[in-house]
Amino acid sequence: ICGCLILLLSELCANNLTLFPHCRKTAAHADPTSLTRLSVDVNHHHTSYNNTEKLSSNSWTFNKTLSNFIRKNILRFLDPERDISILKGTLKPGDIIHYVFDRHSTTNISENLYRLLPTVSPMKNQHYRHCAIVGNSGILLNSSCGPEIDSHDFVIRCNLAPVEDYFLDVGQRTNLVTMNPSVVQRAFMDLVSEEWRDRFLRRLQSLSGSVLWIPAFMAKGGEERVEWALRLILLHTVDVRTAFPSLRLLHAVRGYWLTNNVHIKRPTTGLLMYTMATRFCEEIHLYGFWPFPLDPQGKPVKYHYYDTLKYEYTSSSSPHTMPLEFRTLTTLHRQGALRLHTGACDAERRPQRELRSK
Ligand SMILES: *[C@@H]1O[C@H](CO)[C@@H](O)[C@H](O)[C@H]1NC(C)=O
Ligand SMILES: *[C@@H]1O[C@H](CO)[C@@H](O)[C@H](O)[C@H]1NC(C)=O
Ligand SMILES: *[C@@H]1O[C@H](CO)[C@@H](O)[C@H](O)[C@H]1NC(C)=O
Ligand SMILES: *[C@@H]1O[C@H](CO)[C@@H](O)[C@H](O)[C@H]1NC(C)=O
Repeated sequence: ICGCLILLLSELCANNLTLFPHCRKTAAHADPTSLTRLSVDVNHHHTSYNNTEKLSSNSWTFNKTLSNFIRKNILRFLDPERDISILKGTLKPGDIIHYVFDRHSTTNISENLYRLLPTVSPMKNQHYRHCAIVGNSGILLNSSCGPEIDSHDFVIRCNLAPVEDYFLDVGQRTNLVTMNPSVVQRAFMDLVSEEWRDRFLRRLQSLSGSVLWIPAFMAKGGEERVEWALRLILLHTVDVRTAFPSLRLLHAVRGYWLTNNVHIKRPTTGLLMYTMATRFCEEIHLYGFWPFPLDPQGKPVKYHYYDTLKYEYTSSSSPHTMPLEFRTLTTLHRQGALRLHTGACDAERRPQRELRSK
């Protein structure tokens, strides 16, 4: 989902049993006060995308009570305002960090990274009525959702997905964007040439003032790429607010969902963003989430709207459990906790803008 993979090589449950005892007995730890209504039917291993056709109906209404309830429950596992970034006061250059997924590998806090750590949470005291989280699925192509997405008060995007050439379908507004270190390699050719460096720099500069969220300490291997990005940001005084997720974020998010009986292996960035956004946003709208190779009409759907990458959505060797995540989001959509948009936007009713002015 979201094309926003925390791309990692090892399997959580295979390698990290000590970190994730839940892998063995999740249900046994179920919290009695947990969100029992969120009991997703875990017996279906393959979600039929036909089931989701009804998502495009106009009957959705926001359930504020449920949304508040979810926010409160998530806060018992993490405080997104805090966990969205490590703060400057807590580290110094040279400090050694163990990677979240590769516990035996370490990295040092570089001078550049230290300089770019925020002193206060970039989301401190921020609250929005309508937020959009934009996943990167090809389901967005020809959706005409751009204006509707941009009409939200806060727009979250994933993995520096390009917007310029797709703005009619995906919008342009960006308040927070994630960047896995692997993006530098995959989308910007590891900055091998002046041209790619320029392209990358222009993409960063186009973020003007947004939060740039870099999961630098999840998996080993991205150290250099993060460093290149940070160097460019400092050298060109790029106007972005960098944030580096706390080391406990992933575990906490996974813990929340496990407690609600959603046995995800490793949350996608999309699910991470939803989980965190509950803290800052009242009504959350999701676009571009579609972990299936075909649309409801049976037409092929690209994994990412902007490239040709392929993904095995249902493979057990994939680090993510996208169809399960999607089923969970579908359940939450039906309950009115969030809204999943999977159809074309011009076919839907007036965008939320009018509702909002009430
Ligand atoms: C979805 O429904 C259509 C007809 O409504 C059918 O032709 C198609 O095979 C179904 N696809 C799946 C995956 O069930
Ligand atoms: C909203 O959600 C709450 C808690 O799940 C539920 O009790 C209530 O019936 C829901 N309200 C509507 C209008 O669906
Ligand atoms: C990290 O810092 C320690 C102590 O300052 C140093 O010995 C080590 O070589 C550094 N490691 C890396 C990868 O820079
Ligand atoms: C989008 O619409 C154009 C023009 O109708 C068409 O050529 C293209 O195949 C469509 N793309 C997708 C992904 O549906």
